[in-house]
Amino acid sequence: LVVGEFGGPSALELIEVPMPQPGPGQVRVAVKASSINPIDLSTRSGALAAAGLVPRAPITALGWDVAGSVEAIGSTVSRFEVGQSVVGLRDLISAVPGAHATHVVLDESALAPAPRSATWAEAATLPLNALTAARSLDHAEVEAGGWLLVTGAAGAVGGFAVELAAQRGLRTIAVASAEDEEFVLGLGADEFVPRAELLAQPVREIVPGGVGAVIDAASIGIVAHEALRGGGRFISLVRPLAPPPIRGTTVVVQEVFADGERLGELVRLVEAGRLTLRVADEVPLSQASRAYERVAEGGLRGRLVLVP
Ligand SMILES: NC(=O)c1ccc[n+]([C@@H]2O[C@H](COP(=O)([O-])OP(=O)(O)OC[C@H]3O[C@@H](n4cnc5c(N)ncnc54)[C@H](OP(=O)(O)O)[C@@H]3O)[C@@H](O)[C@H]2O)c1
Repeated sequence: LVVGEFGGPSALELIEVPMPQPGPGQVRVAVKASSINPIDLSTRSGALAAAGLVPRAPITALGWDVAGSVEAIGSTVSRFEVGQSVVGLRDLISAVPGAHATHVVLDESALAPAPRSATWAEAATLPLNALTAARSLDHAEVEAGGWLLVTGAAGAVGGFAVELAAQRGLRTIAVASAEDEEFVLGLGADEFVPRAELLAQPVREIVPGGVGAVIDAASIGIVAHEALRGGGRFISLVRPLAPPPIRGTTVVVQEVFADGERLGELVRLVEAGRLTLRVADEVPLSQASRAYERVAEGGLRGRLVLVP
């Protein structure tokens, strides 16, 4: 699945390219499932290229999350063998094909064994957003017992962040739509605040002085920053939407990268029943344009997953 001229859903095109061959240290994966993430929509629309995050090229391939089986391995590959079930992250946007394809070649270091307890579609919802949530928590630097605010808590990154924070002993205030209250509290949030134009007051009623860190998965910027204590840490996921550091705060823009070892740790949490994988629907790769449209329309809970 590629885009030539950036634009709406009709800009997407399924093309045939030569079968990608794994080089040294690389693995070819026969893709069984690949989820559609917000970054795929930004790639298709041209927003990523406009931001200078993807080089302009005649075609740009889509898809980051991979669940599938190892089909071929390059020289020096030592951790995987043909036939093995894996999950992985394709983080080099300029590589063709991407993960929305029948086959993709990834570095061995980008892969982990697939969770045995998950379907292909469920497994495909893990890599991008769980890695992002885990790294965002590292950047937050909140000690056990400290307070964390997670916006967009019912979304993919936010949901994983709430679950991982609870496992680290953090106390979490989750911000999401009112209808998602029960869901995010079920993930392990300690407190719930419905999304609103101003968050400082309701959050500071729970934590006088403000929270120690914010993971802003809803990209609401300064509104969430107002709930942060002076000197606290603010984790943004979208560089242009990061607020400036004020009141002595530190603003970190988290940028995900493929990390098979870390992904392996997250896979073990899935197998232990400690991370929740959510699939909104499975759609054949041949209907990708319509699937992207459904994601753009919003309102989905869980990921839409493309199945070649
Ligand atoms: N830099 C990185 O490393 C990295 C990695 C992964 C993702 N990202 C980015 O991180 C963002 C989140 O990704 P995602 O996959 O978690 O997206 P997602 O699943 O769409 O979740 C976003 C959530 O934010 C909610 N939301 C929107 N506006 C809100 C507001 N004003 N207050 C509270 N909640 C609000 C949405 O709720 P509704 O659906 O009800 O509107 C949704 O539940 C995206 O922009 C994505 O591109 C960055």
